[in-house]
Amino acid sequence: MKKEKSRNIFSGSIGFVLAAAGSAVGLGNIWRFPYLAAKDGGGLFLVVYLVLALTFGFTLLTSEIAIGRKTKQSPLTAYGKIHGKWGFLGALASLVPVIIMPYYCVIGGWVVKYFLAYLTGTGSVTASDGYFTGFITGDWQPVLLMVIFLFVVAFIIFRGVNKGIESFSKILMPVLLLLVVGIAVFSLTIHYEDEAGVTRTGLEGFQIYVIPNLDQMTVKGFFTVLLDAMGQLFFSLSVAMGIMVAYGSYVGDDINLIRSINQIELFDTAVAFLAGVMIIPAVYTFMGREGMAASGPSLMFVSLPQVFRAMGGVGNLVGGLFFAMVLFAALTSAVSVMEAVVSSLMDKFHMTRVKAAALETAIALVGGVIVCLGYNKLYFEFTLPNGATAQILDIMDYISNNCLMPLVAIGTCILIGWITGPDTVTKEVEKSGCRFGRKSLYIVMIRYIAPVLLVILLLKSLGILTVI
Ligand code: ALA
Repeated sequence: MKKEKSRNIFSGSIGFVLAAAGSAVGLGNIWRFPYLAAKDGGGLFLVVYLVLALTFGFTLLTSEIAIGRKTKQSPLTAYGKIHGKWGFLGALASLVPVIIMPYYCVIGGWVVKYFLAYLTGTGSVTASDGYFTGFITGDWQPVLLMVIFLFVVAFIIFRGVNKGIESFSKILMPVLLLLVVGIAVFSLTIHYEDEAGVTRTGLEGFQIYVIPNLDQMTVKGFFTVLLDAMGQLFFSLSVAMGIMVAYGSYVGDDINLIRSINQIELFDTAVAFLAGVMIIPAVYTFMGREGMAASGPSLMFVSLPQVFRAMGGVGNLVGGLFFAMVLFAALTSAVSVMEAVVSSLMDKFHMTRVKAAALETAIALVGGVIVCLGYNKLYFEFTLPNGATAQILDIMDYISNNCLMPLVAIGTCILIGWITGPDTVTKEVEKSGCRFGRKSLYIVMIRYIAPVLLVILLLKSLGILTVI
């Protein structure tokens, strides 16, 4: 009883929305969304993603935030409080951020490296052949930069919910939005004449991004787009990784959850869309359609530096602003990943925030060093069940993103949809007196549609379902 009373809460709905949007807007939006959109037929991916965000994403986000607020517990203990026999789901949900944190910090360190290069006016060096591979396979630099990134995150967590998470989000998120909009507008105004004398413009690239490309679209192809969009939504909205339960537990009972959830979704989807507007027209203009085929790390850390170099004098400034923006996005997301673990340790083992944060920092540090070594002393190539070649970072990403997160989401759907009933969430949402506009949709989604889609996604990720 005493513990519940002393729990920190966000100071109001703006603090909550900006912290949750800060969690949602991260590397997933800026790095993964644009290349999935380019790969999956541009506008078609956008439409599918939007429909899924408003139905599937909304259902999972609402469930997790409501579970957090209702129980006033972090993920490790919240599910058990919803139903005594479902504590295992909390353990699974809190395992996800433990796995994500080390590799998120490693990538955060890469972003720091590129940001510093542009800040010191040497950004064009990052565009030289083999630069990225040379850097990540290095002995000490990736480790040092990972540690710096991790310590900044830990510092914010040490400061607590209000002075740390909320106040940093209130500063970083508006700046991030300004940078995203500014760079996106700039990207639409550029043009470039290549060696063959062909002129390409940002506006042409924008059309390629937004106009659906249905050439040779098959049912199987459509399912690929659907499942890509669904997998992306999980990561992007920070659901099925314990974060939104933890943040939900800091939301006051008087806050209108539906309005806040709409705002979080709008923020996250708008930034993902604008990330595509920043990146796709720029890559198309300077590198043509072939350049857009690049995916994964190479898009952000190899193709984009080449684009900034091709821009000439202004490229260093644009690159610097771009990587500052990516850094802010990565920081606020990493903060939420760490908070999901720290709050779990605090609730379950009654640790102080300082002790819990120190423990999670140590775990992430060891994990981060191992991930870095995965490109150096511990390098190996492993073929994942979905056919991709992986190093340690990819294996950790696969276990969390492709296996555990769908499992957590399926468990949440069964728990809320069938065991306790959707009332558990709908009543919590309506507690503040707000109208639950998409209530019927929510009930149909949580009971029927979401679990079926999730099982298909899981089977496909595991390489068991190959027909679609
Ligand atoms: N939602 C965060 C991201 O997109 C984790 O990176």
